[in-house]
Amino acid sequence: MTTTKATINIELTEQIATINPNIYGHFAEHLGHCIYEGIWVGEASAIPNTDGIRDDVVAALKRIKPPVVRWPGGCFADDYHWEDGVGPRAQRPKRINAHWGQVIEPNEFGTHEFIEFCRRIGAEPYICGNVGSGSPKELRDWVEYCNYPGDSTLTLQRANNGNKEPFRVKYWGVGNENWGCGGNFDPEDYAAEYQRFSTFLFNFADAPLYLIACGPSGNNHDWTHKFFQKLRGRRLHGYAAHYYCGTAGTATEYTADQWYELLHRAAQMEKLVVEQRGIMDEYDPQRRSGLIVDEWGTWHPPAPGRKPSFLWQQNTLRDALVAALTLDIFNRHADKVVMGNIAQTINVLQAVILTEGDKMLTTPTFHVYEIYAQHQGGQSLKVSFDVDDILFSVGNEERQLGGLNGSASLTDKTVYLTVVNPHVENSIEATIHLSEGEAKEVTARVLTHDDIHAHNTFDAPQNVTPCTESLSLTGKTLQHCFPAASVTALLIQLA
Ligand code: AHR
Repeated sequence: MTTTKATINIELTEQIATINPNIYGHFAEHLGHCIYEGIWVGEASAIPNTDGIRDDVVAALKRIKPPVVRWPGGCFADDYHWEDGVGPRAQRPKRINAHWGQVIEPNEFGTHEFIEFCRRIGAEPYICGNVGSGSPKELRDWVEYCNYPGDSTLTLQRANNGNKEPFRVKYWGVGNENWGCGGNFDPEDYAAEYQRFSTFLFNFADAPLYLIACGPSGNNHDWTHKFFQKLRGRRLHGYAAHYYCGTAGTATEYTADQWYELLHRAAQMEKLVVEQRGIMDEYDPQRRSGLIVDEWGTWHPPAPGRKPSFLWQQNTLRDALVAALTLDIFNRHADKVVMGNIAQTINVLQAVILTEGDKMLTTPTFHVYEIYAQHQGGQSLKVSFDVDDILFSVGNEERQLGGLNGSASLTDKTVYLTVVNPHVENSIEATIHLSEGEAKEVTARVLTHDDIHAHNTFDAPQNVTPCTESLSLTGKTLQHCFPAASVTALLIQLA
């Protein structure tokens, strides 16, 4: 193990924008055990719950301050009919979850249950509507059911179902992956559908809508150009790309090169954001619409012994670094990125929580969200890293990965610097310069482990957890050593 040198410059007067808390958003789909068993166990369950929603999961999620949750899909959304999920539970129809294992969807968790879950964890609901197999009327009626404050037939039904007060749902997605499972549209045809559907999505009383269109698969330029050419300035608030960095090796078994390979793929999010926002600027120079990435994360091969269609995967220190790298990218683009939703909250893909029966654990990715919550609502600061790149191989090809990455934000008189050291062996001794002011007190939170494959299990749920240290650092220039394979946050109180 060696120590290398780096310089980090934090420019306190170069404020990029306020970091939208929604960058720290989540995504929960009717898929595998995300909703059923993960969130919803039903009132009769022996697992402690309140009105059917797991108490342990609610308590854990509150710790990471989730600002927004996207639901009910994913691919599931374009095959979901909201009326199936309201009214007396015993009478709700049983449907087939066609995309995810063709299991029975009991519709026990519907609109009211979702809103209740969001309220419990303190998040805004983001509902993704059905464009692929639904109609403008169906989606328009869902908005009325949720948001209209007066006594229409639909809202009397809502009151009858337990909620007299409107839900006032702000965020509405007009379809999901409409280039694929959401209808296989081409971009022009989807733009026409977006216009048709959004025309009938009304702002009722004090609940103005924030409408989100389906953006590209990854960094597909063609979809974005053609969508915006056709749309020409219509009502659009957010434009949502999906980017999964995938895997290298398996969830828990990988070489050092595969560790770097996956982090390198995660870092491609920067290219996506830079290029997609550039295209959006051509059609929307006043930046009326924000860029969203409402599905992102790792996607590992199916875990042995689990149903492949349920997308269950373990979550290691490597996933934590993927999350931290990605959130740092969003923070650095706080002037354009308005929301991000990691896929998915519980038991699916890059989950922050895993459950098994009445047991629950928080993953290394959860701990990144807990550490990074401090950035929510801060002013994103320009920060630069001067450090050697890491060279690694993918097959016969040599590639490079930034030797240190991160972001910084300012809230009142506190600078929050988050740093990812991706080196599997080298710690990095960094000199940190504050362009203005002086540090009077510094606290560090560090997430790392000696084993780059480390993860939490139900037998060892605390194997990967952050530690807190008070550092004796003051002044304008700070020296700090970032351990190998780590995520660190420095809370710098200014004098
Ligand atoms: O998150 C799993 C799936 O990935 C979603 O349903 C879909 O939108 C994406 O392809």
